[in-house]
Amino acid sequence: MVTVAAMAGPRKTSSSSKRPALLHLVGAAAIFSLIVFAIQSSLFIGTKKLDTNREEVRILSDFQAHVQQCVANRGLGLHAHIIDHCKLILKFPGSTNSIWYNEQFKIFEPLEYNYDVCEAILLWEQYRNMTTVLTREYLDARPDGWLEYAAKRIAQLGADKCYNRSLCEEHLNIILPAKPPFHPRQFKTCAVVGNSGDLLKMEFGEEIDIHDAVIRDNEAPR
Ligand SMILES: *[C@@H]1O[C@H](CO)[C@@H](O)[C@H](O)[C@H]1NC(C)=O
Ligand SMILES: *[C@@H]1O[C@H](CO)[C@@H](O)[C@H](O)[C@H]1NC(C)=O
Repeated sequence: MVTVAAMAGPRKTSSSSKRPALLHLVGAAAIFSLIVFAIQSSLFIGTKKLDTNREEVRILSDFQAHVQQCVANRGLGLHAHIIDHCKLILKFPGSTNSIWYNEQFKIFEPLEYNYDVCEAILLWEQYRNMTTVLTREYLDARPDGWLEYAAKRIAQLGADKCYNRSLCEEHLNIILPAKPPFHPRQFKTCAVVGNSGDLLKMEFGEEIDIHDAVIRDNEAPR
């Protein structure tokens, strides 16, 4: 583009009849360069993006496969069905009856759990600086934190939406820390232990103990 413009410079004195033609030529050359430049950059950005995407998909797919293997090994009858690199469904065998009635939501607990790993990672990216456990600070930061999220996550609120925030806060202050209790301490590995009675039949103790942090959900059996 620069070269074309410099060539056009000295010709300014040429006859007026030739001038529009020259201008057209310069214009066409400029547009051509722009198009070439645009194609080049889009190609460059395109391949770079494709490569990153492919790498991300590979990492996510590996992760899904790992989860599937882990669930198959000791999922207590659960199976992990991989839908794509983001979505995964954990299912109990078809013949299973749900007998755990959830008083809060008046439903039997489902026998299928849908997970979207991509969504979880995006959410984590958004909030990672703040906290790693459920805190009041975390609820404040989420747009739907108090109304929806708190109510869904915390059975003690006894409602599916938190319309009266001060009432919800009263309940939550007892069970939720305001800020992450361990910050800025970091743990390399952790074991997350649920509260299924089935855990009493398993022998995960040693495996749980090798982790730096153990997170127990709802007073799980020790
Ligand atoms: C998180 O913290 C890092 C480092 O302090 C900063 O560069 C980044 O922008 C922060 N991200 C968000 C979403 O606040
Ligand atoms: C919300 O809860 C507070 C605290 O329990 C209570 O004093 C107040 O009357 C409630 N507000 C409404 C609109 O129900």
